[in-house]
Amino acid sequence: MCGIVGVTGNENAVAMLMEGLRRLEYRGYDSAGIYVNDQSGQDYLVKEKGRVADLAKAIDSKVHGSTGIAHTRWATHGQPSIANAHPQVSADGRFYLVHNGVIENYRELTETYLQDVTLASETDTEVVVQLIARFVEHDHITTLEAFRKVLYLIGDSAYGFLLMDREQPDTLYVAKNKSPLLVGVGDDFNVVCSDAIAMLKYTHDFIEMQDGEIMILTPGNVDIEDEEGNHIAREPFHLDMDASEADKGTYPHYMLKEIDDQPAVMRKIVQTYFNEDGEPQIDGALLTDLKAADRLYIVAAGTSWHAGLVGAKLFERLAHVSAEAFVASEFAYDTPMLSEHPFFIFLSQSGETADSREVLTQIKAAGYHSLTLTNVQNSTLSREATYTMALEAGPEIAVASTKAYTAQIAVEAVIAKVLGETLGQDAARDFDLANQLGLVANGIQALVDQKEVFEEIAKNNFVDQRDAFYIGRGIDYALSLEASLKLKEITYIHSEGVAAGELKHGPIALIEAGTPVIGVITQAKTAGLTRSNLAETAARGSHIMTIVSKSLANAHDDIVLEDIDELLSPLLAIIPAQLISYYTSLLKGLDVDKPRNLAKSVTVQ
Ligand code: F6R
Repeated sequence: MCGIVGVTGNENAVAMLMEGLRRLEYRGYDSAGIYVNDQSGQDYLVKEKGRVADLAKAIDSKVHGSTGIAHTRWATHGQPSIANAHPQVSADGRFYLVHNGVIENYRELTETYLQDVTLASETDTEVVVQLIARFVEHDHITTLEAFRKVLYLIGDSAYGFLLMDREQPDTLYVAKNKSPLLVGVGDDFNVVCSDAIAMLKYTHDFIEMQDGEIMILTPGNVDIEDEEGNHIAREPFHLDMDASEADKGTYPHYMLKEIDDQPAVMRKIVQTYFNEDGEPQIDGALLTDLKAADRLYIVAAGTSWHAGLVGAKLFERLAHVSAEAFVASEFAYDTPMLSEHPFFIFLSQSGETADSREVLTQIKAAGYHSLTLTNVQNSTLSREATYTMALEAGPEIAVASTKAYTAQIAVEAVIAKVLGETLGQDAARDFDLANQLGLVANGIQALVDQKEVFEEIAKNNFVDQRDAFYIGRGIDYALSLEASLKLKEITYIHSEGVAAGELKHGPIALIEAGTPVIGVITQAKTAGLTRSNLAETAARGSHIMTIVSKSLANAHDDIVLEDIDELLSPLLAIIPAQLISYYTSLLKGLDVDKPRNLAKSVTVQ
């Protein structure tokens, strides 16, 4: 949440910062701002409520500079407005600050140090920049010393900060705790950004930044200091990724492209994790840790949690190891009793979700081992877990997650199969996963090739609805939760995923004439029961639809999926739900890729 970017030492700083903001807009989009300095004392601050495109319109041709910082905001403190947009400025006009995170004790700090200052915004960020100015002026200390002092005072709050001082126009002061930041190294310039995607057009060489460090960037130098001020040497790593991978090409929206990417993602996962004999492979030390576990704790948020619900079933059925998926924000503060030998699996597209990271920090401190499955190389959760595996889905930019969900389930299946085979489980040995993932890729392709069908369903059955329900049992229930999240987050239609058998215990009271109820039927054992539950809603006036596997389908079913192993059915069943949500959002005239109130990469708890 919130995207921040900085550049020092490049005449094109304004263009670079704006390109960075456009790339980071998925992290927040309620207001944006930029501050640049041209070294001769001429500087510019431009802020705008709304999108990065609105900021771009507000920047006229005279705004120029070679060093600057910029921000695209997801509001935490204070509603979206120009005053609350970043950069925040000190009252003396000397210091400019952009921030991603939340300063927990900003009210106490205001009362202690800033009672005589009239704050211009409602943000926690302004308090930080006013404090820096206050300490520089009153304590006669340097900017770096004041910055360090403020970092000490805000303690363990979450922050990624970029600070500029008008009196040192080519210097960026950078600090982070819990929020992601990377420094990019160019020829005679340096950059800093929340996500490498922002600056890939300008450099592929990045330096990781650790919590608690301060970096001081000038055009030709990156100075890294730890909390005590000791200098640290760290080599850049090369990020082998093409900036165009994060483009939407000719697609009207990222979400549609990302839905269409899914067959290729399935094939990439086979390529990455299977040897020439079609056998899946995982790291040996990881396998040893997994074998020693008596219970697997899968920890995640949102769509990734939904992928974890399916993963837990894969581990139990293929490897016969007890497994459960937990909502990270609940697990962190209401920790369940742990088994004797727990092993933790974190699922996170972004690798930055603060709720999941909090759990990782806690279980690490308790000495437990963990694995992170993530789509972002070098992300915080991947660096901090004992092991990491890549989702290989390619950049996911649309706020609504699509291909990361299917990739997470496919990679969980790889691990479950390897673990099950190692534990001598027949279910795992007999499961031809490479072949199944090939069938999945073809099955997804068949679905995305008939988009007009889903557009029609969206138009006739969803656009004008207030409520909608997905129902299913077992794996189909897990799928229903994700299908309904996709619908609500981008169409604003109230939607619930309900365990089909639970309907009659309460939710059925919500059914009115015409309410869409979509039954997900991919499990032979429960197909009949789910059909009965659908009929019970139809008897109360609902409009029922079905998503059904071919072998369980009849002539009245609406959406028929190619047959694949029941364990992997969510990989196909989610595609119609993704497309129906996409077209419903589009037909309602909503911003598909940037739904209201949301942001991708949720770096606050
Ligand atoms: C929904 C969605 C969110 C994320 C959740 C976790 O479409 O994208 O629910 O799944 O915020 O994010 P990651 O996977 O990055 O940890």
